[in-house]
Amino acid sequence: MSQSTTQSTTRAAYDAVVTVYAELVRDFLADLPLERAMLAAFAELVRTHDAGPVADLGCGPGQLTAHLHDLGLTTFGVDLSPAMIARARQDHPHLRFDEGTMTALEIGDGVLGGILAHFSTIHTPPAELPVVFAEFHRVLAPGGHLLLGFFAGDDPRPQEFDHKVTLAYRWSPDSLAELLRQAGFVEVGRLRREPREGERQFHQAHLLMRKPPQG
Ligand SMILES: C[S@@+](CC[C@H](N)C(=O)[O-])C[C@H]1O[C@@H](n2cnc3c(N)ncnc32)[C@H](O)[C@@H]1O
Repeated sequence: MSQSTTQSTTRAAYDAVVTVYAELVRDFLADLPLERAMLAAFAELVRTHDAGPVADLGCGPGQLTAHLHDLGLTTFGVDLSPAMIARARQDHPHLRFDEGTMTALEIGDGVLGGILAHFSTIHTPPAELPVVFAEFHRVLAPGGHLLLGFFAGDDPRPQEFDHKVTLAYRWSPDSLAELLRQAGFVEVGRLRREPREGERQFHQAHLLMRKPPQG
């Protein structure tokens, strides 16, 4: 599938599930202390470095954009799906949400202090991820941080799976960290946790990366 076909499929799939999805994730952090800890660490690092606003890329209905705002960050969200953006604006009218794609961000070079990409790169075909990571690197200020959440596996090659919304990929944290290193990032730390009851039986992982101050 071409890049634009994959994105049209993903856009249509998320447009179609917006109401159900927004309800599902509305309070999802409430019983996820490890994720909250990673988000808090990310927010603290971004605040300390004070290099610019934070973009929640692939923000969906914006619940994490709002969480980062509540942690004291200047945030905005970007998503491929117009329905997700409309829902995010409705639920969080005090925040900014833009329609757009991570493969060609309408954001200037080096303007962001941080990027959150929470399970939003999971649908990107592996061969296209270097384009996305190059965009992340371009828009981050030197010293800026990236927090990337994804489904984890042990196979060093990415594994396709039938995610409930549309086709997705699991990555070994080492392989994904290596791809990010190739894009110019250095690793700060990572989280890998067991699936909880009721969740799909995959580990979930977060990589906290940084664009080097001279990068
Ligand atoms: C699994 S949802 C995650 C949403 C939100 N980050 C969360 O954690 O609830 C994936 C989101 O990424 C968005 N997305 C996928 N590919 C994208 C792209 N190339 N550019 C922008 N958004 C994208 C989808 O539209 C969808 O809203």
